[in-house]
Amino acid sequence: MTRGLQLTLLGLLASALQPRQAQCWWGNGHMIVARIAYDILEKDIRDKADSVLSHLMPFTTLEDQHPFVECATFADEIKGRGWNDQANLHYIDQPFFDQGFMIQVAPESENVTWAIDMIVANMNRKNLEMESGVSWDLSDSYHLRMLIHYIGDIHQPLHASSRYTKDYPMGDEGGNAVKLRVNASDEVTNLHALWDSVVTAQVDDMTLPLSESNWEKLGNISSRLRSEHPQSIVENNFNLDPNMWADESFQIVKEEIYSDFFDGEDSVFSPSQDYIDRSKLIAERQIAKAGYRLAQVLSNIWSSHQNKSSPLDSESHQDLTHESSKISPKFLQE
Ligand SMILES: *[C@@H]1O[C@H](CO)[C@@H](O)[C@H](O)[C@H]1NC(C)=O
Ligand SMILES: *[C@@H]1O[C@H](CO)[C@@H](O)[C@H](O)[C@H]1NC(C)=O
Ligand SMILES: *[C@@H]1O[C@H](CO)[C@@H](O)[C@H](O)[C@H]1NC(C)=O
Ligand SMILES: *[C@@H]1O[C@H](CO)[C@@H](O)[C@H](O)[C@H]1NC(C)=O
Repeated sequence: MTRGLQLTLLGLLASALQPRQAQCWWGNGHMIVARIAYDILEKDIRDKADSVLSHLMPFTTLEDQHPFVECATFADEIKGRGWNDQANLHYIDQPFFDQGFMIQVAPESENVTWAIDMIVANMNRKNLEMESGVSWDLSDSYHLRMLIHYIGDIHQPLHASSRYTKDYPMGDEGGNAVKLRVNASDEVTNLHALWDSVVTAQVDDMTLPLSESNWEKLGNISSRLRSEHPQSIVENNFNLDPNMWADESFQIVKEEIYSDFFDGEDSVFSPSQDYIDRSKLIAERQIAKAGYRLAQVLSNIWSSHQNKSSPLDSESHQDLTHESSKISPKFLQE
């Protein structure tokens, strides 16, 4: 990053980040992902993360005592304040052709898997010319915030697909275009929002920076999810290839999300209580996985004592991909 770009970045941040409550319900989901990762990280990696984050803290009023968790919604916050050049990086619209409908869809030039790969490579200083005299502090600080958020996003199944049918010939935009027959609330009026919100089944998003009681509440949710969905759910496929995570989400979309979907009509959806309960279980499991994987990605980047080589480069990565592809998303239902 050049000095000029650094200054532009600082200017943008300074003007963009006035206090505001996080808006989307998924904000809680992102913070739980971060809290799970933070709770299981080795102390030296946690300290490293806190120190990396500290470089941009003066430019946001949303972070205070718990920046690793509080920054989990940063990528959404700046999107809502004009920093839209990373808006496409929150999802990957893998086309799901359903009900016999088929259409030509151009591949995206950028998406969330691409973004995670780029960020991890950057934080690993891969494929980069080291420019002397320029500090990595701001770039790492920005990228860590994005990484925490994007790893959460890619585990929300509807961030990994757009469904095409004759009623949605342009795709349903990850369920954003699918209206609910009965709105769950003023904010939950479509399928995407329903999935964003089932995660915590909490009506209120948390105000930032976190109060001590909300910090404790997140800690309690983290403990519950880690006990209900222990790390062994990912231990066999500790594959840190974001394309595999996107595939996993895509399978959930195909097999679960549009199941018992319609009462006769394609254009609106009445979720049953059973659907909501099942979705909540799947979403919480995805949240737990995202937390475990985020922790592992950061450990891989920063561990000096652990194996430093990126799993993306290793031979065993191939085997693991193969292994993981055998796991059906059906296992998400207990
Ligand atoms: C995601 O972006 C990458 C990088 O541009 C591209 O190669 C890939 O085809 C994209 N995936 C989809 C589903 O569009
Ligand atoms: C759901 O909310 C949307 C957006 O506010 C509104 O247009 C729609 O009429 C609502 N539908 C029902 C059934 O209340
Ligand atoms: C967290 O869990 C503990 C133990 O169950 C409970 O005493 C405490 O009230 C919970 N805290 C919050 C903020 O929910
Ligand atoms: C590090 O990873 C490489 C590639 O996966 C493996 O061959 C090697 O045995 C590992 N080293 C340690 C110390 O675990």
